[in-house]
Amino acid sequence: MTNDAHRLATPPALSARAAEVAPFIVMDVMNQAAAIERAGGSVVHMEVGQPSAPTPASIRAAAARALEHGRIGYTQALGTDSLRERIARHYQDAYGVSIPAERVVVTTGSSGGFILAFLACFQPGARVAITAPGYPAYRNILTALGLEPVAIEVGPETRYALTPDLIAKAHAERPLAGVLTMSPANPTGVVMAPEAIAAVAAECRRLGLWYISDEIYHGLTYETPATTALSADQDAIIVNSFSKYYCMTGWRVGWLVVPQRMVRTIERLQQNFSISVPYLSQVAGEAAFAATAECEAIKAGYAANRAYLLKALPEIGLGDFLPVDGAFYIYLDIGRYSNDSMAFCRDVLEQAHVAITPGLDFDEGRGARTVRLSFAGSLAECEDAVSRMRNWLKQR
Ligand SMILES: Cc1ncc(COP(=O)(O)O)c(C=O)c1O
Repeated sequence: MTNDAHRLATPPALSARAAEVAPFIVMDVMNQAAAIERAGGSVVHMEVGQPSAPTPASIRAAAARALEHGRIGYTQALGTDSLRERIARHYQDAYGVSIPAERVVVTTGSSGGFILAFLACFQPGARVAITAPGYPAYRNILTALGLEPVAIEVGPETRYALTPDLIAKAHAERPLAGVLTMSPANPTGVVMAPEAIAAVAAECRRLGLWYISDEIYHGLTYETPATTALSADQDAIIVNSFSKYYCMTGWRVGWLVVPQRMVRTIERLQQNFSISVPYLSQVAGEAAFAATAECEAIKAGYAANRAYLLKALPEIGLGDFLPVDGAFYIYLDIGRYSNDSMAFCRDVLEQAHVAITPGLDFDEGRGARTVRLSFAGSLAECEDAVSRMRNWLKQR
């Protein structure tokens, strides 16, 4: 090729659809916090949605043994038989729900599960109902896949959950193809009651919609346990992960439970996208089901943090939130201080060195007056954050 040809060529354009995908604001907060730390400051981290505890030792030991063995190859695209069987047994043990192992698909975290499930369920352009506030990647993954997220505003009056009425109303405006709920929820920490899940499942069946239930925070509940949507509807698509309860965010392993008729489609997608989920992570995932004592001890730490914050935050004027049923988040209304959550979070980070996340990550419409705090760290960190915010709020 001549130099002229190089000069005349127009650089290829980026995909317009990909360019539409919004960034995660929390990542920007993490970058700003890292800059403060590089300059010698000490930051209390309440922005990140991941356990600060290491992966339980028994899980790491199982992976170390497999590593020592050395044969780290591809597995079946749907996951190893033994992990799929172990996950199926978990549904019997934890919820009394019987599912065959053939309906379990091992995925690269629940994030990988969403991509597979969305592609298997929806035609291009399909509309999928999600909540606002909600987990930001839902709308971003849907957008990247050429689907249309339909963010339905929910608030304290429905405990931040979708209801049959809200779903029917959105469907009447323009037909939906699916509904996605999560319980316990990010960022609000609310758990849907079994009746609320059954009502959503029934409405989806009535309208002929896919029902996808994100159950990634199961295991992390403080009052009553969370219900799997499979108890209400065997056709519901369940998305779950080892990331949160088992403290395994970096292992990138999760799972789906899908209707039998979808298994082969998902298998073909996974074969082509990633061949299989990393073998070592699958070994670790299987060991995780035997790490209950370690996981419960870590959860007891979250429960102590939660009890402290539910009392301490109102005492410093940050009391406008629902009691946290599960997960490790508090979603606070800061309207009495600010209607610019980005500026509020920037100032509390720069001036008090407490990192928290602006609500705009979770609710594009109303998140300017909300923030999310994660209490997945230690009690000492929670106490330090409250003391810093108390002084900061007094001085501003
Ligand atoms: C509600 C919810 N779903 C899914 C995920 C993705 O988790 P992972 O891909 O690690 O399983 C997260 C992570 O924060 C989340 O909060």
